Amino acid sequence: MLLFESHVCRVLSVAVVPSQRRHGLATTMMRTAERVAQARGCSGMRLEVNTRNLAAIELYRTLGYKVDGHLPAYYTWGDDAYSMSKPLEAVHTPSAVSSGAAASPA
Ligand SMILES: CC(C)(COP(=O)(O)OP(=O)(O)OC[C@H]1O[C@@H](n2cnc3c(N)ncnc32)[C@H](O)[C@@H]1OP(=O)(O)O)[C@@H](O)C(=O)NCCC(=O)NCCS
Repeated sequence: MLLFESHVCRVLSVAVVPSQRRHGLATTMMRTAERVAQARGCSGMRLEVNTRNLAAIELYRTLGYKVDGHLPAYYTWGDDAYSMSKPLEAVHTPSAVSSGAAASPA
């Protein structure tokens, strides 16, 4: 689940059914989200993650996200969160700036 806020794309949640974990699905979803955000002109990704959620923290770290804040009692049940972010490179393709453009013939 993504939320586009001005030039930042916030990742609100990502989850993979337990039986399918560790097969790269979350990595694929996150990379796809980053491409979508780039195409919409976002300059960065942001997310919050429970400080106890070592699997998710490792996922984001391997994708290049850095911890840039510690949010005490961020969750309603009292757990802390880290805020993490990753800058995105600007893309300058016509399809990235012109949402109504027709696809080129193959
Ligand atoms: C976190 C979650 C989305 C990861 O999904 P996934 O499809 O298993 O992740 P990937 O297979 O793409 O893993 C990529 C890398 O992340 C890290 N990682 C993922 N799960 C991990 C775990 N349980 N322990 C340690 N590292 C882990 C590893 O570096 C992994 O690479 P590797 O498998 O080559 O070692 C999944 O565990 C999940 O749905 N958890 C419950 C929901 C959740 O916590 N969501 C995130 C907060 S909203």
